[in-house]
Amino acid sequence: MKILVINGPNLNNLGAREASYYGVKTLADIQDGLADRANELNADVEFFQSNHEGAIVDFIQSTSQDAHGIVINAGALTHYGISLRDALADSRLPVIEVHLSNIHAREEFRHKSVFADIAVGQIVGLGYRGYHYALEFLVAHLGEKAAR
Ligand code: DQA
Repeated sequence: MKILVINGPNLNNLGAREASYYGVKTLADIQDGLADRANELNADVEFFQSNHEGAIVDFIQSTSQDAHGIVINAGALTHYGISLRDALADSRLPVIEVHLSNIHAREEFRHKSVFADIAVGQIVGLGYRGYHYALEFLVAHLGEKAAR
């Protein structure tokens, strides 16, 4: 089972940006922890980060055929990235949207996610652990679907 873990703009700067919202771990720290957890769960993870919407669309188009689910923190693209939304929908994969901070407790423009209705679910405000919960959910969910 292969899960794509995608991070959007500015998430390459984790550890250095607004720790009160995003915590102190770097993206590499988070990815290392997720790779370990995936190993325990017998899943494969492929990581991708870009500050460019089109690059993320290209990544989804070129990898989704061989993948089974997507965990995505699209950063600010969450609030307006329609071409990214279309690529996620076209992938036909189950998508879990993750946000380190609670986007609903912040500025109004962060309350809206253009992926909300095509995602299986959202995990917000739980910091880096949100990625772990998303991965664990997808592995369980896909396992149950395969057993049916
Ligand atoms: C974020 C929330 C977004 O509003 C913001 O633009 C980010 C990070 C989060 O993880 O809390 O870049 O997706």
